[in-house]
Amino acid sequence: MRMRRIRNNKVMRDMVKETTLSISDLIYPLFVVEGENIKEEIKSMPNTFHFSVDMLKDEIEEISKLNIPAVILFGIPSHKDSKGSEAYKEDGIIQKAIKKIKEINKDLIVITDVCMCEYTESGHCGIIDNFGNVDNDTSIKYIAKIALSHAKAGCDIVAPSDMMDFRVGEIRKTLDENGFKNVPIMSYAAKYASNFYGPFREAADSKPKFGDRKSYQMDYHNSDEALKEVKLDLEEDSDFIIVKPAMSYLDIVRRVKENFNTNIVAYQVSGEYSMILNAVKNNLVSEEIIYETLISIKRAGAKNIITYFAKDIARKIKEGQI
Ligand code: PBG
Repeated sequence: MRMRRIRNNKVMRDMVKETTLSISDLIYPLFVVEGENIKEEIKSMPNTFHFSVDMLKDEIEEISKLNIPAVILFGIPSHKDSKGSEAYKEDGIIQKAIKKIKEINKDLIVITDVCMCEYTESGHCGIIDNFGNVDNDTSIKYIAKIALSHAKAGCDIVAPSDMMDFRVGEIRKTLDENGFKNVPIMSYAAKYASNFYGPFREAADSKPKFGDRKSYQMDYHNSDEALKEVKLDLEEDSDFIIVKPAMSYLDIVRRVKENFNTNIVAYQVSGEYSMILNAVKNNLVSEEIIYETLISIKRAGAKNIITYFAKDIARKIKEGQI
């Protein structure tokens, strides 16, 4: 068979295209901060911003016009403490942002990152015990409390990114008992202890003050372990499974796809974003590389992609450029 018979012709190439990217695949991350009148570019992540709640209107309208179906929210509180209490406060930064976004567009799906690292003095994703370790079983109580406060504020999906054991079950139980049976959980099931989160930790002010996250996030030498994590989360009734980061972890996406019949989300994280953007800005590679990376993530088996490129790509898809 001569492959060229088909490849020679653009229309035929399109006819046999196996993988496509739709705007409805995309999830756009937003960073919200306390204060007023703030729209400040995040240095480590060009073209992404810190927004105060009062400045969300234009941004949400732009996202909505582009038909991007969902945003995922990260909050940066003005005050941190040992229990991360701003994370589950009724008028915490995320809770206020959810209400504001729903006022602007009630149909935009609001996903909330459920974690403690932006809210704890330690910068860790859970509560620290007397020995200086993250206490898993205490932490999941707090994580469930945070998820519940987001649901009460009106979010559509909660996305725990803490990587504590059994937190999905704890969240599910808490949501169900409080009348939120229909709020799905999108769990960061296979989240690696990765160097690719560097720019985000600056953006979210969530760097651990001591140690690292290797006791709760996954070791990047492992992939069987990712399947174990996914299996556990699905048994605890997670509705979506996130694999994170994306580009260096496409083998994981593919293995999850082949082993489980579930909704797979890949997170193209801050380090991937900033590296790609830097290379494009320095004319080292063509801008089309952004689309290529997203297609590769879809080819690997993810349906949805959380990406800081969501607006740019949605615009290009809308204008028929890709
Ligand atoms: C919070 C969280 C992190 C990211 C998403 N949620 C950082 C981390 O685990 O240190 C990273 C996102 C990115 O790099 O874009 N736990």
